[in-house]
Amino acid sequence: MNEETFLMNEKTVKRIKAYNAGTGIVLGSGLGMLVERMEVDERIPYKKAGLPESGVSGHAGEIILGTLGSARLAVLSGRVHLYEGYRADHVTAGIVGLALAEIPSLILTNAAGTLNPVFPPGQWMMLTDHINFTGQSPVTGIGVFVDLSAVYDPALRGKFAAAAARRGMPLHEGVYLGVCGPQYETPAEIRAFRTLGADAVGMSTVLEAIQARALGMEVAAFSCLTNWAAGLAGPLDHSEVIATGREAAGEFAGLLEAVLSEQPSLKY
Ligand code: HPA
Repeated sequence: MNEETFLMNEKTVKRIKAYNAGTGIVLGSGLGMLVERMEVDERIPYKKAGLPESGVSGHAGEIILGTLGSARLAVLSGRVHLYEGYRADHVTAGIVGLALAEIPSLILTNAAGTLNPVFPPGQWMMLTDHINFTGQSPVTGIGVFVDLSAVYDPALRGKFAAAAARRGMPLHEGVYLGVCGPQYETPAEIRAFRTLGADAVGMSTVLEAIQARALGMEVAAFSCLTNWAAGLAGPLDHSEVIATGREAAGEFAGLLEAVLSEQPSLKY
């Protein structure tokens, strides 16, 4: 377990605040190419920002300030995970930084396995809710009882659903179950998770969403369904997860650009 303390440094918080981004975005495995669609103004490596760095392939760690269409964004490209030996508060240090920089809205993305027979890999799922199966919380020891009745903002979800329908993009809606990993699940676990009401399973997002709600941010989250969950098809392979994420990222970038550009409240 890594026992350091991480807090985004004041210089970086000030820089992000001055940039006046309306939306923060966290990019998951293989989704870093979303940045290729942006006009990048500045890149700040996580280390320079005081944030923890990840060693997982597909997770370059940098803050990117830039625009997508007319929307000003602060992107956390790369995240650290519990399975790397980081604590819950390490996992959410970047989110705390974005909140300190007064960014009102947060969009989380991840790669996930699909449990729902009508949500095939290669498509996207918007989270309606989550099940935190990590046994961890980023607000442990802080003593706040965070209301999670509507973690993923219903109004924002409505805008994404409408924009996806207009574009003819399949955008499923369902429940994400977050686990610690790093091992993929067993077929028995996947059957159990389906019984619990999960549509997708992954190793991130739930802690970040809790942290963001604790700090009053509006949250939306999206899973790139990269593979059938264990037992539903063949064996699982990390390189396949990354490759499917890369292929599906372009479609999501188009949706994001459409929603953020038409949304004055999400700008600045
Ligand atoms: N399980 C857990 N995490 C994942 C998966 C999966 O099948 N695919 C991508 N991330």
